[in-house]
Amino acid sequence: MKEESAPVLPKQPIPKLLTGQKALVTGANSGIGRAVAIALGEAGADVVVNYVRGEDAAQKVIDTIAASGSKALAIHADVSQEEQVQQMFREAIQKFGTLDILVNNAGLQQDAAFDQMTLQQWNTVIGVNLTGQFLCAREAVREFKRRGIRPEISVAAGKIICISSVHETIPWGGHANYAASKGGVMLLMKSMAQELAPQRIRVNSICPGAIRTPINKPAWDTPEAYKALLTLIPYQRIGEPEDIARVAVFLASDQADYITGASIFVDGGMTLYPGFATGG
Ligand code: BGC
Repeated sequence: MKEESAPVLPKQPIPKLLTGQKALVTGANSGIGRAVAIALGEAGADVVVNYVRGEDAAQKVIDTIAASGSKALAIHADVSQEEQVQQMFREAIQKFGTLDILVNNAGLQQDAAFDQMTLQQWNTVIGVNLTGQFLCAREAVREFKRRGIRPEISVAAGKIICISSVHETIPWGGHANYAASKGGVMLLMKSMAQELAPQRIRVNSICPGAIRTPINKPAWDTPEAYKALLTLIPYQRIGEPEDIARVAVFLASDQADYITGASIFVDGGMTLYPGFATGG
């Protein structure tokens, strides 16, 4: 199927499910993080837009959020660095008063054949994708526990959404560092969810499939690549960042209050073993 003839993402307004809440989204100046930050703002939350490179892009996200009537603030921090993460949370809490929602989104790929992979490639990917999620979640949980529940804002003391990947379960040759980081995110998320549920802190993951963002541009930006990509996607279209953003709004809201410890796959069926539709 050609991209132009593929069914497109339905356009629907984001409901105001997060009025009065304060959110922090890591890696929010591009791709999935950007769409999530904008959607949380549309849903009524004030949003901290974290970025590590690309201040201009972060500023644009802030302007978009402000236009929807919510407050927004850009904070620079490398999520793999403990000091920078702690400083970011101090500043966010000082400016917004508290935090209700963390979206652990910042992530990267440094691909290599297994026997060519350097320790630096391994450490960089684990450092941002896994250690970064731990460091940010720890600061968020400290604030959620300190403040407790404010029933007029949310029935939960806090919500953490980890942006994982289909590769928390699908092995990925040539990307061992990335797949290992996302497999780690899965059990980090579930262990936090189990431990923190009695304090009414909900922790869940969204597991995107192929989403049209800079991280995987070579997989969708030519007709040949797009055609090959669709062989992995039963729903026969690439995902858009907004597909993820809408699920994030729902998971962060009290509409999802009984959901904790879940990996929600938003992947057009990529995890359904598409090769078996005609084989096996
Ligand atoms: C990766 C993308 C890839 C997708 C599906 C994501 O987690 O970052 O590069 O296209 O998984 O394989």
